[in-house]
Amino acid sequence: MTAAPAPADRHLPQRMPARVRLRPTMQSDLDFVLTLEHDPANLPFITPWDRVQHEGAIRFPDFRHFIIEGGPGLEAVGFVILIGCRSQHQALELKRMVVRDKRQGYGRAALRVVKRIAFDDLAAHRLWLDVKSRNTVARSLYEQEGFALEGVLREAVRVPGGFDSLIVMSMLRHEFEDRRALALEAAG
Ligand SMILES: CC(C)(COP(=O)(O)OP(=O)(O)OC[C@H]1O[C@@H](n2cnc3c(N)ncnc32)[C@H](O)[C@@H]1OP(=O)(O)O)[C@@H](O)C(=O)NCCC(=O)NCCS
Repeated sequence: MTAAPAPADRHLPQRMPARVRLRPTMQSDLDFVLTLEHDPANLPFITPWDRVQHEGAIRFPDFRHFIIEGGPGLEAVGFVILIGCRSQHQALELKRMVVRDKRQGYGRAALRVVKRIAFDDLAAHRLWLDVKSRNTVARSLYEQEGFALEGVLREAVRVPGGFDSLIVMSMLRHEFEDRRALALEAAG
């Protein structure tokens, strides 16, 4: 009998991260963003916004809305949204990250850039996120990338057939710096 593929294991050696670049999202990118949000591969894991909400996030200074560019031609492969960029508490939320071409390493690479932007450029003290409990892929990625489990918002979101819980995860500045000292993060 053939063995089933092993689930993602955080102790296995990781692939080399892909090369990505983040650039500010423009109005002309919003069709791409909205299409990605409504892709059935992504919908179970996010709560899509309408165009006006994305337009606000592009303009509002407390938000950063980025297109993830990757691949040989650095085409748009996803997007990411940060909130709290002007927070007096220096607490930034990774609101959403969606990658179109999955399992190419773009998600991990983009997350690493997000951490650099948050801690190096935006002087975050805390970078946090919530993720649906059923989103095992994203949870595994965040855990591998050094996010600590903070708690569970039990049955916080409606999903088909019932409710799902939200897992809250975070990284503090000193944890990012400790990881950097271990070369787990790019040099500053
Ligand atoms: C979560 C998401 C951004 C990850 O992006 P990605 O580019 O596919 O991820 P990567 O290729 O960088 O993979 C990172 C790690 O995640 C894990 N992973 C990714 N896809 C996986 C899968 N299908 N099964 C198991 N583990 C998986 C692996 O550990 C992988 O590392 P490895 O390939 O070195 O083993 C992407 O799957 C996505 O857009 N999902 C839908 C939206 C979403 O859930 N966003 C996050 C919540 S806001």
